[in-house]
Amino acid sequence: KNYLVSVDQFDNQDVMDFIQLAQAFKAGKTLQLKRPSFAMNLFFENSTRTHTSFEMAERRLGLQVIPFDPKTSSVTKGESLLDTLKTIQAIGVDLAVIRHPRDRYYQEIVDAELPMSLINAGDGSGQHPSQSLLDMDTIYEEFGHFDGLKVAIIGDLAHSRVARSNMTLLTQLGASVYFSGPKEWYGADFAKYGQYEPIDDLVAKMDVVMLLRVQHERLTQANNQAFDAGSYHQQYGLTEARAARMQPHAIIMHPAPVNRGVELASDLVEAPQSRIFQQMTNGVYVRMAMITRLLAQRGLITPEQLEV
Ligand code: CP
Repeated sequence: KNYLVSVDQFDNQDVMDFIQLAQAFKAGKTLQLKRPSFAMNLFFENSTRTHTSFEMAERRLGLQVIPFDPKTSSVTKGESLLDTLKTIQAIGVDLAVIRHPRDRYYQEIVDAELPMSLINAGDGSGQHPSQSLLDMDTIYEEFGHFDGLKVAIIGDLAHSRVARSNMTLLTQLGASVYFSGPKEWYGADFAKYGQYEPIDDLVAKMDVVMLLRVQHERLTQANNQAFDAGSYHQQYGLTEARAARMQPHAIIMHPAPVNRGVELASDLVEAPQSRIFQQMTNGVYVRMAMITRLLAQRGLITPEQLEV
């Protein structure tokens, strides 16, 4: 396939292949492209980590990155997303990386079968496959396996594409997933992946405590007005006292950006058990692995270059 849009595409072997390729890039692997190749990152929602690390990954692999700014593009004249993609494909772009606020925006592009590679860098509250793979890579780097690991996903579940992608891959890989945070954000789609428990009942028995950002941009005005950061932190956040009850080997993760003092105490971001910045570093290598797989599918590298 010439697209990577949802973790539903990945079986366990795919995940391990991505992790092994990412770790090879981290150890210094390089690629040789058969011809000049071009990437465009189309971000219709704000981003620091995903946008920058995709561009870093593309440049490290030798792709040339064509700038795209939605605010100065012909999208402002009413051009559709699909016509934008057809346009950049006609101009010669090999790979489009797209973030968009609409859930499953990518479906019409996949259905159009454009001869261009596509990576979903996050769709609304739907999927975030590159974040999920970098989270799996970081967990594997820490523990060397997934089987039997206990992972708590805590926070704004309702709006989280990270939670949706991670609960799928973690359970598929043999980990046990638990959820916490405001109970009203634990919807029916989460129940089949793991049970809800108050954070105080979870922290002492988890191997991974994964916090999620409260997505104020997706909350209603009324919910934003009612939101109290201090009370959220006390009820649902990883406080210093709760972190002190974690097992010695357990780690803290967060996809970031972090609302310091809300999802977790500010000092825990840089604490020894935090892997938050390691997640960002690993994100570059995992995105290199994803792009490499698509380059191989397009014949832009030799199949041997997929080997580690
Ligand atoms: N984790 C993540 O997707 O961060 P950005 O929104 O900054 O890309």
